[in-house]
Amino acid sequence: MDYIIYTLPNEPCPVSFLEMFGNDQPVEVEIGCGKGRFLLEQARAHQDRNYVGIEWANKYFRFAADRMARWGLANVRIIRTDAKLFITRYAPPDSLAALHIHHPDPWPKKRHHKRRLIDPAFVEAVGRVLQDGAACSIQTDSADYFEVIEKLFADRAEFQSSVRVIQSGQTGDGLVPTNYQVKYQRDGRTFYRLVFIRVPRSSQPSALGS
Ligand SMILES: C[S@@+](CC[C@H](N)C(=O)[O-])C[C@H]1O[C@@H](n2cnc3c(N)ncnc32)[C@H](O)[C@@H]1O
Repeated sequence: MDYIIYTLPNEPCPVSFLEMFGNDQPVEVEIGCGKGRFLLEQARAHQDRNYVGIEWANKYFRFAADRMARWGLANVRIIRTDAKLFITRYAPPDSLAALHIHHPDPWPKKRHHKRRLIDPAFVEAVGRVLQDGAACSIQTDSADYFEVIEKLFADRAEFQSSVRVIQSGQTGDGLVPTNYQVKYQRDGRTFYRLVFIRVPRSSQPSALGS
């Protein structure tokens, strides 16, 4: 169990994934991994990649960590922290091969919108930590949050939209469904799925001086 849980230093500084895993395999992060179902299935299917789950709710963190320990995979870790803090202060620049966000809390009331994970500072930080060509995949069941997220990414030159799917029932994307996805599929909810690709730094307009 010990190796599954990674504890961040109190003072924010870039983490070393090489030290975390003992190898330099590509690293994928899932934010709000909940009970860990998606992360573990991905880790088992792709043992040549490393997977880090970020979860701040102690109940889910404990559940996912226990499950991860039982599965005994070498390429998965979980960190209990605020994902916004992790992405903005701990993840090194140009370090992630993929970022997955499934059903981020939508905070539907207007006065709670400031609690949302995905805001301009977060999106800017995602552009900094993703490697060239890496994908940020987001799935939500909130039409309102979906529109906000889409605009935040569209406003930044670092990203190119590659997937935009609005679908009821099964998402049919071939990926392992998350716990919330399974629950919401039963309720017949609509899913909004977006994938943004990190544009190679060398081809960004500012890098060309134009
Ligand atoms: C609606 S649940 C979705 C869980 C899982 N992704 C799924 O699809 O089954 C949102 C999850 O994100 C976690 N979460 C929300 N905000 C977070 C943050 N800022 N940092 C880390 N985890 C967060 C919550 O504790 C919860 O487990």
